[in-house]
Amino acid sequence: MTHVDTLGRPLRNLRISVTDRCNLRCQYCMPEEEYVWLPREDLLTFEEVSALVDVFADLGVDKVRLTGGEPLLRRDLPRLVRLLAAKPRIRDLAITTNGVLLAEQARALYEAGLHRVTVSLDTLRPERFKALTRRDTHARVLEGIQEVQRLGWKGLKLDSVVVRGTNDDELLDLIAYGKRTGAEVRFIEYMDVGGATLWSMDKVISRTEILARVEGRYGKIEPVIDESTAPADRYILPDGTIFGIISSTTAPFCRSCDRSRLTADGMWYLCLYAKTGTDLRGPLRAGASPDALKSFIVPTWQRRADRGAEERLALVDRTPLVQIGELKKDPHLEMHTRGG
Ligand code: GTP
Ligand code: 5AD
Ligand code: SF4
Repeated sequence: MTHVDTLGRPLRNLRISVTDRCNLRCQYCMPEEEYVWLPREDLLTFEEVSALVDVFADLGVDKVRLTGGEPLLRRDLPRLVRLLAAKPRIRDLAITTNGVLLAEQARALYEAGLHRVTVSLDTLRPERFKALTRRDTHARVLEGIQEVQRLGWKGLKLDSVVVRGTNDDELLDLIAYGKRTGAEVRFIEYMDVGGATLWSMDKVISRTEILARVEGRYGKIEPVIDESTAPADRYILPDGTIFGIISSTTAPFCRSCDRSRLTADGMWYLCLYAKTGTDLRGPLRAGASPDALKSFIVPTWQRRADRGAEERLALVDRTPLVQIGELKKDPHLEMHTRGG
């Protein structure tokens, strides 16, 4: 059954973070070396996640994305995939990974029934990758992408956060690489989310600027008209290549946002920018029935009025959402805890 919020938006898309840990330190997401990690005993078991997905599916959720941190760091992840893939109501089951551990896990994930993979890939240059992520594992990411290709696994997407002065000279190279690997490249505007403590507006390359640069090389770009593809707007080049732009910073899609997110320790957040969430682990572990859980979830969704990215856009003097001190006190404000 579908429930809508105060802006008429249905609850359809659940992003599940399976760990807050990450094996990279992307400067736009986790610029610190050390963080306050979630206590291990608080992490939902796969059975608990599966039970919550059943509850959400009863309420209309049919898209699930596994995120992190880095989801492939969660031990035995294909077992969770198998549990979720067995649910016919989940018509789309995907993962967002940084790709470092993908080469060794791709086959098991594919065989477990995962529908599709999105790999974060911001640069094609190993040295730049090292500077951006503080780790020297670029080659492994490319191997992961090749393994997906080798398996004949369709639906691969490559997400690149474009940061001025960091990788904004690689737009055309990334499009060409996507073409070679059969992947759809999506450029993401740098967002001022929790965790992005180094963010500033002058480092954002807007959709307008991205389009102008790509058009300068390829000639006329046409938008692909397709209602169902939020958050990405898709474009087609004269040679037929399709790429996307996620303009969360300069042209947010809050109006059609059907997402919510579950952290690895069972906190449920509605907006990427929300400061508070709803604890589902507590009631779940206290033995709440599916109906009792729904009685927490439904009214919370019905009261939802979030337009986080649009509200940020309205600010005149825009600085990072949360300062480092506040992040240290509440790791749930971090992008890597919330899962994007
Ligand atoms: P598809 O179903 O493949 O379109 O997945 P997706 O694009 O929803 O998932 P993905 O994890 O690839 O998301 C891409 C990026 O969009 C994220 O990494 C974020 O940068 C951004 N994003 C995701 N959710 C939200 C959201 O609720 N609000 C905003 N403003 N940006 C978001
Ligand atoms: N701006 C935009 N996207 C971000 N991500 C993390 N931090 C940011 C940010 N500050 C997203 C990227 C990355 C995914 C794991 O999280 O899309 O690919
Ligand atoms: Fe980078 Fe993703 Fe890890 Fe954040 S969670 S540091 S974006 S790889």
